[in-house]
Amino acid sequence: MNSDIQAIRAMKVDPEAEEFVRGEYARLYKDYNCAIREVRTKLEVLNEDFELAHQHNPIHSMNARVKSVGSIIEKCYRMNYPLEDCKFTKYMMDIAGIRVICHYIDDIYTVAELLGSQPDIEVVTIKDYIENPKPNGYRSLHLVVKVPVYFVEGVKTLPVEVQIRTMAMDFWASLEHKLRYKSDGIIPAFVSRELKECAEAISSSDQQMQKIHSFLDQLDQDLARM
Ligand code: GTP
Ligand code: MG
Repeated sequence: MNSDIQAIRAMKVDPEAEEFVRGEYARLYKDYNCAIREVRTKLEVLNEDFELAHQHNPIHSMNARVKSVGSIIEKCYRMNYPLEDCKFTKYMMDIAGIRVICHYIDDIYTVAELLGSQPDIEVVTIKDYIENPKPNGYRSLHLVVKVPVYFVEGVKTLPVEVQIRTMAMDFWASLEHKLRYKSDGIIPAFVSRELKECAEAISSSDQQMQKIHSFLDQLDQDLARM
């Protein structure tokens, strides 16, 4: 059994607080799902508007999820967040998550900039794993943004984790996640090295595709001016 799981099992469980969280989950799900919808709509609007202005869609696709109640409880024990009375909502920034898949590297920063500069959006954190990839080769831009959601009983400002990456980065991250999950988190050193090599190869392809796209884009603009 891997040591993380052992450590979680050794923790003091609080069945009463867990029960309370499970009872509150329908409300939590509704709140965070609405926050996702607000951010998703903003991104869809930006994508459509950008297309009209620049004849290019920065966003290829999006998918979103609200963390399951099981994952919320597991993360509270792992991170030592308070379970009682759902107090973890103050600390857990990824209950709502949206993954935004872009075509090119520049699109990632364009999308982040356009979203983050909206006056009703508060950017809480930015983690740039493209500029500073994780040691295993993982690349992505992670933002936590807070968005106001207007409910019947008033406004709630809720955090949404936005992961922005290229199709190529997503291909790597999805397979790496599956492989790691399959092997219970234990991956031999040579496999880790090979996975990292794949991440580097993907990164250089992304850079090359970006160069080609930028070149052709410039060519188009030059021709249009002639
Ligand atoms: P979490 O507790 O998992 O949310 O981690 P964190 O708060 O330290 O944030 P981090 O930015 O490291 O990662 C958040 C999320 O990014 C994860 O839940 C994954 O979805 C994704 N992620 C981060 N690192 C990796 C990685 O090495 N491989 C893959 N496939 N996904 C990753
Ligand atoms: Mg997470």
